[in-house]
Amino acid sequence: MADVKEFQDRMLSLGLARVSEAAAHASARLIGRGDEKAADQAAVNAMREQLNMLDIKGVVVIGEGERDEAPMLYIGEEVGTGNGPAVDIALDPLEGTTLTAKDMPNALTVIAMAPRGTLLHAPDVYMEKLAIGPGYAKDVVSLAMSPAERVRALAKAKGVAASDITCCILERPRHEAMIAEVRSTGASIRLITDGDVAGVIHCAEADITGIDMYMGSGGAPEGVLAASALKCMGGQIWGKLLFRNDDERGRAAKAGITDLNRIYSRDEMVTSDVIFAATGVTNGSIVQGVKREPGFITTETILMRSKTGSVRRMIYRNPVK
Ligand code: FBP
Repeated sequence: MADVKEFQDRMLSLGLARVSEAAAHASARLIGRGDEKAADQAAVNAMREQLNMLDIKGVVVIGEGERDEAPMLYIGEEVGTGNGPAVDIALDPLEGTTLTAKDMPNALTVIAMAPRGTLLHAPDVYMEKLAIGPGYAKDVVSLAMSPAERVRALAKAKGVAASDITCCILERPRHEAMIAEVRSTGASIRLITDGDVAGVIHCAEADITGIDMYMGSGGAPEGVLAASALKCMGGQIWGKLLFRNDDERGRAAKAGITDLNRIYSRDEMVTSDVIFAATGVTNGSIVQGVKREPGFITTETILMRSKTGSVRRMIYRNPVK
């Protein structure tokens, strides 16, 4: 019986990959066209259509926004056929709308699925994030440390000089002091213009990507998606929600969050096993972007399950009708 359940889990995960592929296919035509909204909308429509074909009793917990802001894939929307396991769905149909519009690297379509009630209902506010890859002791770095202390602690744990550490940080005016402090240690920084889900995932494959640590603030929903990916690949992430005004604090209350100062570890953002799928839209270091050639369209998807620790990379070449 256990094997049947395992088989069903695997089949469901393949269905999830199909959902992220569909979103990437749909946004492909809009790569480099300068229209963020159209690219996002195409991905949303395709992801929703595919998701509703899956045999799940799903609820979107990380989605396109509150019900009054987003007509589709809004927080609380029920998705799937209604037959099958009760699950939480976290998604970002197009993570990196500007990257797509400008044909810059690392735009992804992203979706994660876990048993009902096990993904943090992160409100649409900022989150202070810190992430590292697998193989380090628990809490070798922390949000309580200054950026320079984190670099030195990680360098010590890795057995290298601070100048051998590379951090990934979103290039934003709010990060200027952090960037200067990290540079003062001698560490190098890969600045990214957008896409911190990919930024965090890079830490899990430091040998390939060259990135040891991610830090800085970005979207809280993206934090939960990144935590889902690291739960599958290994690695640690911590997140603290940031509130700028009463409206944002209200969003937290609505999501059932009472402790506004809490620091969430990876396993507090994702409390059970999770399935994660991401498909490349533009080329990146995790997966290749959509390739269009006469008569065909090709995508690459990474599909992972935390339960088995399995990481599948799937290249899908499909005739264009
Ligand atoms: P979009 O998918 O909406 O384009 O978001 C991209 C992103 O760069 C995220 O990866 C990141 O978490 C967030 O925006 C950062 O927000 P801001 O641009 O306000 O700094």
